[in-house]
Amino acid sequence: MTKQLLLGQTLGFSQNPLTGDWADAVLFDSAGGVLVDGAQIVDVGNGAALRAAHSQAQVTDYGDALISAGFVDAHMHYPQTGIIASWGKQLIDWLNTYTFPEESRFGDRAYADEVAGRTLDLALAHGTTTLASFCTVHPESVDAFFTAAEVRNMAVIAGKTCMDRNAPDTLRDTAKSAYDDSKALLEKWHGQGRANYAITPRFSPTSTPEQLAALGALWSENPGCLMQTHLSEQHPEIAWVKELFPNARDYLDTYEAFGLLGENGLYGHAIHLEDREIARLAEVGGAVVHCPTSNTFIGSGLFDLKGLAKASVSIGLATDTGGGSSFSMLRTMAAAYEVAQLRGVALHPSQLMWLATEGSAQALKMSGKIGRLDKGAAADITVIDLRSTPAIAQRTSQARDIWDAVFPTIMMGDDRAIKDVWVAGQRMI
Ligand code: GUN
Ligand code: ZN
Repeated sequence: MTKQLLLGQTLGFSQNPLTGDWADAVLFDSAGGVLVDGAQIVDVGNGAALRAAHSQAQVTDYGDALISAGFVDAHMHYPQTGIIASWGKQLIDWLNTYTFPEESRFGDRAYADEVAGRTLDLALAHGTTTLASFCTVHPESVDAFFTAAEVRNMAVIAGKTCMDRNAPDTLRDTAKSAYDDSKALLEKWHGQGRANYAITPRFSPTSTPEQLAALGALWSENPGCLMQTHLSEQHPEIAWVKELFPNARDYLDTYEAFGLLGENGLYGHAIHLEDREIARLAEVGGAVVHCPTSNTFIGSGLFDLKGLAKASVSIGLATDTGGGSSFSMLRTMAAAYEVAQLRGVALHPSQLMWLATEGSAQALKMSGKIGRLDKGAAADITVIDLRSTPAIAQRTSQARDIWDAVFPTIMMGDDRAIKDVWVAGQRMI
């Protein structure tokens, strides 16, 4: 097969720029090249040198566009694509008013297929090549998502959202059917091509202790799977969890007590954490997922990114569509910057780009496979135009260095900034 050589400004990382000096972590080449063979990146280096060494390769020259690993959205809800930007509610009312009625439609396989395809195409158009998605209670919704991802050859994570209380009849399963359906879906999809199954209790308020225990048992039988859920997003939610689980030490304990705390756990939001919860997450290596556009849109609070990074908690970045108000990881990075500013911290553009790629890949335990512009990683690549609108271009024209050129696109960019996307070595847009 002909090799592909992508030329442009390349950005990768040798280590985590959130710990230590970001400058030591960045691998940037203003005249770089990425060599792709089949579905893999086989070399990254100086563009001219790669061109000379691989004269047979098919060359795509992106000029001064930025070549990055594809974005990794570590927490989203594809069934909420149709209700993104729904007005006026906070978490529990928002779920009851907008989310649950929409999710009730996903027993219809044709509807689920259509929304799954639409969501993945929107994600690709925004430069996102991997998503970890919640589905709905319906097994059909899981089949629809994995099938749509398989057609596009995308690496995705997904699972049936389990709820056996505090949800409408149309969306409720039981402890037993949650276990049985999740097990069957896991056996069908986990490790199938680029699909990974995540055991998915929605959150403690919508699962009985029996259901949490059943899913904890399923996870202990399949420890290589991820487990995704929500944690400490809003104060009224946390108060409700206290009422429902009076013996729990804290919110995280409602998972820990039922075998749902572990290294392969993904805990969405994690805003209002107690010290014990932070210490336990760091100790077991479970990841939290920061969803900043959601946290401001639903009015949840200000995630403590610096504090959690300092405590050595693994952190992914995510849109949380449709509680989040954008499909764009650029917009999500901008919101992460703004939320951190409100806590007195200015995140560097390199740190934001790392969170949207390698950071999320690490949270998903897929580091080395995705989210990285490096030899051996999948050729899931996003090419970013740093002058995509007149407003951005006039700012970029005054840039003093690469970060001064990248930051306006992080803050002001959207799908117009996505010049090209490659998935497993194939051009997608
Ligand atoms: N907590 C439980 N379910 C959800 C959801 O769908 N979105 C958000 N943002 N939080 C949740
Ligand atoms: Zn969520």
